[in-house]
Formats: sequence, C-alpha cells, structure tokens
Amino acid sequence: MPARRLHRPYSGAEAWVPDHASLPVLRAAVSSCHGCPLYRHATQAVFGEGPAHARVVMIGEVPGDAEDREGHVFVGPAGRLLDEVLEAAGIARDEVYLTNAVKHFKFTRRGKRRIHAKPTRYEQRACKPWLNAELERIAPEVVVALGATAAQTLFGPHFKVTESRGQAFATEYAPYTFATVHPSSVLRAPDAEARASARRALIADLERVAAHLRESAAAPRHAKPTRSAGTKAARSH
Ligand code: URA
Ligand code: SF4
Repeated sequence: MPARRLHRPYSGAEAWVPDHASLPVLRAAVSSCHGCPLYRHATQAVFGEGPAHARVVMIGEVPGDAEDREGHVFVGPAGRLLDEVLEAAGIARDEVYLTNAVKHFKFTRRGKRRIHAKPTRYEQRACKPWLNAELERIAPEVVVALGATAAQTLFGPHFKVTESRGQAFATEYAPYTFATVHPSSVLRAPDAEARASARRALIADLERVAAHLRESAAAPRHAKPTRSAGTKAARSH
C-alpha cells in the first residue's frame, strides 16, 4: 500500500493570483488556477463580472451548471431570480459587480445531471485570494453576501444570515457589508406560499441596500456627518 500523503496536495489559490493585477489580468489568470481540486472536473473557472469601479459587489457561492458551461456568473435559474429581485428592489444589475466565493463549479453526478454541491470550508478558504483580489481592485462602498457561504467567507464561520440579514456592518471589505439569503434558497422553498414569502424577504433586504445607495449618492462622502466639519462639506453640489 502506498504511504498516505501527510500534506494536502493543493495549497490554495495564493500562488496563482498575480500581484497588483487589473481585473482582466486576474480573470485571465484564474483559468489556470490549481489551488484546490475543483478545477479538475469543472469546464472552466467563472470569474466575477461588472464595472471595475462598481459601488456594489454581490457575492454568490459557486458557479452552477449553466455558469460552468457558459463561463458567466448568475446566468442560470438563480441568476434569473436574482435579476427579478434586483429589479424589484430598484438596483440595476449592470451597475453591480457580481462574483462568487468559489470560482469553479462543484457537483455530483446523478445520471446525466450535474447537481450543485456546496464547497467545503477548505475549498472556500483555498479560493479566497481571488475574491480578496477582486475586492481590493474594486474597493466598493457596499458588499452584499448572497447566502451563508459568502457571508461566512466575509464574516467568519459563526455568522448567521438568519440573525443578521439586511443589516450593514463595517468590514475590511467595505464600509457597508450586508448579508442576505442566496436567490436559490427562494427557488428551493417547499411550496408557493413559502417561495413568495422568501422572495419578499429577499427583496426587503435588497431594498435596504438600495436605500443606502440612494442616501449615500445624495450625500457625497466628504459630507457624511462624522466628517462634516471641513469646508468642503458645506458645498451643496
Ligand atoms: N449560484 C451562485 O452562487 N453563483 C452563480 O454564479 C450561479 C448560481
Ligand atoms: Fe482555484 Fe478556486 Fe478553482 Fe479551487 S475553486 S482551483 S482555488 S479558482
């Protein structure tokens, strides 16, 4: 019997992330990442998409079957639901930079179907350097974690979306960091009534994000109450 390897054969994405690179350079580099085993069975890595200076970054869990085949974030059923709730909340999808906590699709096979599987904590940690690089480059004012995986990636393993959803926290990632449920949790709700109420609750959380964005756009950064002593703050335009 061969001796069991005592170390993990994959050491995380750090070694594949180019230093100080632009988003297009990061996107090109992620396709060759071997930081964890997920690249082996996925079609391609799916990197984030959206404006390089987006005010809002939203983070899902991991690409799904459609995203894996098409190479774009949130283009499958969860993405369609996300489009609807963003629109209902008054947030333009094309102003949001959308990405995932983990960049390669993880799945189990059931016949011909590929069923989404949740990345382990080890895989989430392995992939984090890509998300860190995206957030550093974009430096958004608002980050929204969609679901427990993204929320725990940002806030740590003890964070509970059910307790803290819809609230803004200052984090190292953004001055306003929110968490809410993942859009696919609405799709998974057991019946029409549960689906409708889960959807309303998700829209309500996103409306809080939208309200924050409107307020902060109306009040320029230097005019925020805590910094309003300077002369610039007195300017009304
Ligand atoms: N679910 C996610 O978390 N991300 C996607 O890109 C698609 C589905
Ligand atoms: Fe690299 Fe992330 Fe893909 Fe793992 S999931 S191989 S860490 S890009």
